[in-house]
Amino acid sequence: DDVAVLVPAAGMGVRLGPGAPKALRTLAGEPLLVHAVRRVAAAPSVGRIVVAAPPDDVESVVALLRPVAHVVVVPGGATRQTSVSLALDAVGEAFPIVLVHDAARALAPVELIERVAAAVRDGHEAVVPVLPVVDTIKQVDADGRVAGTVDRSVLRSVQTPQGFSRETLVRAHAAAVDEHTDDAGMCEKIGVAVWTVPGDERALKITRPLDLEIACLLLDLG
Ligand code: C5P
Repeated sequence: DDVAVLVPAAGMGVRLGPGAPKALRTLAGEPLLVHAVRRVAAAPSVGRIVVAAPPDDVESVVALLRPVAHVVVVPGGATRQTSVSLALDAVGEAFPIVLVHDAARALAPVELIERVAAAVRDGHEAVVPVLPVVDTIKQVDADGRVAGTVDRSVLRSVQTPQGFSRETLVRAHAAAVDEHTDDAGMCEKIGVAVWTVPGDERALKITRPLDLEIACLLLDLG
């Protein structure tokens, strides 16, 4: 029980189309956030979960997550980075390892959560799960003209949960000036070496309408 998991869930989910904040959209009858938090709580290393909820929905999120153990809910902020920072403030010093996990990756399996935590426990200050890039990636200029093809063999897609020693994550957030799309990026900025472990396709980020359909199929497959 040396791991705390921060779950930023305060985003509106604009790319998913109009409706409730993304973490509260339903998948097979339950909010994405409930799917995500239930999986996190099932990981044996996890002793605390801090959810950053949409500020107007804190009470309903508390009610939704009441059946899940170890959960604390705080109001999120205007950006993902602020939401993570606010959740981090609510983690006690009892947890030397902190994972940051998007509510949108609602189907991340327990093995992935444990793999990331184990790499931090092994001494890596910052750890990201990665997948190879399958598409050919091109750089395109403002007019739509291809400017070049990037060597995809050196590229990886990065997922969550990302894992950190608590002290490193606190330091990275304290030093951050501009906005980053992930927490490992903030660690890179202060010179921390970031380690990779294999990701998992089931941890897809539910972002666009088709992703919800795929997630539904994955749930049916068990
Ligand atoms: O917007 P993006 O897809 O990067 O969001 C990733 C995660 O960060 C989602 O789980 C979303 O709910 C969360 N988020 C947040 N606070 C914000 C914006 C996004 O907690 N202000």
